[in-house]
This record gives sequence, C-alpha cells and structure tokens, in this order.
Amino acid sequence: MSALFQPFTLKDITLRNRIAVPPMCQYRAVDGLVNDWHLQNYAGMARGGAGLVIVEATAVAPEGRITPDCAGIWNDELAQAFIPTVRAIKQHGGVPGIQIAHAGRKASANNPWEGDDHIANDDPRGWQTIAPSPIAFGANLSKQPQEMTLDDIARVRDDFVAAARRALEVGFEWLELHFAHGYLAQSFFSEHSNQRTDAYGGNYENRSRFLRETFAAVREVWPAHLPLTMRFGVLEFDGNDEQTLTESIDLTRRFKEGGLDLLSVSIGFNIPEARIPWAPAFMGPIAERVRREAGIPVASAWGFGEPHIAEKAVQDGQLDLVMVGKAHLANPHWAYYAARELKIEKASWATLPAPYAHWLARY
Ligand SMILES: Cc1cc2nc3c(=O)[nH]c(=O)nc-3n(C[C@H](O)[C@H](O)[C@H](O)COP(=O)(O)O)c2cc1C
Repeated sequence: MSALFQPFTLKDITLRNRIAVPPMCQYRAVDGLVNDWHLQNYAGMARGGAGLVIVEATAVAPEGRITPDCAGIWNDELAQAFIPTVRAIKQHGGVPGIQIAHAGRKASANNPWEGDDHIANDDPRGWQTIAPSPIAFGANLSKQPQEMTLDDIARVRDDFVAAARRALEVGFEWLELHFAHGYLAQSFFSEHSNQRTDAYGGNYENRSRFLRETFAAVREVWPAHLPLTMRFGVLEFDGNDEQTLTESIDLTRRFKEGGLDLLSVSIGFNIPEARIPWAPAFMGPIAERVRREAGIPVASAWGFGEPHIAEKAVQDGQLDLVMVGKAHLANPHWAYYAARELKIEKASWATLPAPYAHWLARY
C-alpha cells in the first residue's frame, strides 16, 4: 500500500494524500494583486491531485515583497483577489494554503530571469529594504538594509497578524509563516545577519524573539481548528550546523508548545557562501531528526520529485508531507504520474478527481 497516497489529518483538515505543492513565487502579480495566471497555476495543481497547494510567498507589507511582481496581502483588495484561486483549489479536492512572508534584506530584487539581483538604488521600481541589522546579504543582493527600530519590529509583527486574518477571511485553510530562506524572520535568527545589541539580537533567546512573538501573535487570530504551520531554516550549512540545529529543534519544541501544528523543515540561506550538499532528498534525515526530537509533524522539499523517493520518505517516517516543487511546474498532474509509477491501489485512485483518475488508473 502506498504511504504517499494515505490521507493526512491535521486539526480539522484532511489532505487526500501526502503530496504538497510548496510555495513557489510566480512573479506575475501587479502591485501585489494576483490574477488569472495564479488561478490557473494553482487550480491546475489541485486538479492534478496534490493534497495541499500552498500559494507562494505573499507579502504582508509592500516592502516585504521579494520583487515588484510578487504577490501581496497587505490590504483587503489584495486578499479578495485570492478568492477564485481558493475556491478552485477546494473544488478540485485540494486544501488551499498560503505562505505569508516578509523578504527583509532580500526584498527589492529583480525577477530570477532578469538577474535575481537587487534593483539598482537609482531605479524607481526598487525600495529601501529593512532588516535586523544594516548588513547586506552579499553576492548579488548587495543593497544595505535599514536597521529596524522597535516600532518597525512591532509593525511587521502586526502586519503578519493582519495578513493571517485576511487569509482566513478569504477562505485559506492552511497557513504557513515564512520564517526561512534568509528572509526577514530567518535573518533575525541568524548571527550572520543579526548583530543587534537590544532584546532582539545576541543570544539565542533574543535572536528568536521576533519569531516567537510573531508566531504567538498570529496564533491568537488563526483558529485552533485549522493548521498553523511554519517554514523554517533549521541549519545554514556554514560549518556551525550542530549548534544551529540544536537551537532550531529547541525553538521548534517551543513553537509546538505554543500551538504550531507542523514544521516545513528547510535551509537558512542567510549567507551566499553556504556549502549546501545538494542531492535528491538530502533534507530527509534532517527533517526526520526534527520530527523525532521536537515531536512534531514535518514536511520538507528539495529533490523529492521522483515518486519512489517521495514514497520512501513517508514510508521511512522521515516526512509526514512531501513537498514536490519544480516537478509540479513541469507536470501539474504529478500526483497521477506518481500514482501510476507507484501502482497504487484502487481505493487511493478514488481519492483523485475521477475525470482523469478513471482513465489513468488502468495500468
Ligand atoms: C519558481 C520557484 C519559486 C519559489 N518560491 C518560493 C516561495 O515563495 N516560498 C518558499 O518558501 N520557497 C520557494 N521556493 C522553493 C520551493 O518551495 C522548494 O523548496 C524548492 O523548489 C525545492 O523543491 P523541489 O526540489 O521539489 O523543486 C521556490 C522555488 C521555485 C523553483
């Protein structure tokens, strides 16, 4: 029996299988507003059979967008624009999730295919970035951010709360906080990017404060019956990984006690010179350790797009949910492809949309 095609229940939400589409920026919004591109993209993946479809990093404030073309949810009009997408994902049997985000010092960038670097300082398309400390990421993201004041910190925390409230109002059933990938929250946690000397920098307690406070504030507005999850970079691959992992796992335990339902285990991406051991499913053992030591359901991405690899990750107890990213861009109907590759049983085929499943179930 396929483990990948077993349902997964978290709070009041049951996913039809363990296949999740991780957030993937589309760089197609206009002033933060999503449109038909987003609807088609996400609806296609839900029709394609994924249990969970998480809408891309969606900015909680205009300056929190990665690029000028990134999606936003900093006002009600922007939030309402997600309604057709939410509705379509549900109609096709998927669960609609959204990742809310602030890009911090990595904001104000050009699209990946236009350089993936910071927009030049004299280009009106760009903006002043903010971060815990005035330290640029480096490499192609060289813009120096403005150090956040305590008022800035409180404002961004409140922006996350308002975004969560709006996401709920327009029907999202799964919320993911983007505390990974060197964006704002992750950059508070890392000594590479946070050199503050106040209550938000220095020791582990202080470096985790923005994350803990923001999570706790969101927890108050996001209902207890729906999954509240987080993507978090638990290590940097900077040579100091055991210490970072130990802190990250401790923090995850505390988040869990505070009401976190699942952690999407990822990478810090706080320094350009990280030595990441790219290989299929390389995050599997790390996610498994977080799952075991923090006692929380986990998901992970990075190279799980081959069906037997995805199946094994669930089978071996490394992951509760498998995030399949680029393989979904290549084939939004990845779940049917995986179902055929894994020769899943009839009962599991019945969980996929019949107009396709009926025909594809014949091996
Ligand atoms: C086009 C693209 C956009 C992405 N945007 C996001 C994002 O918005 N938020 C995020 O946490 N990760 C983002 N990622 C990372 C993916 O969620 C995922 O971790 C990555 O693609 C690795 O998984 P894969 O090997 O299955 O593709 C993006 C990746 C791609 C390819």
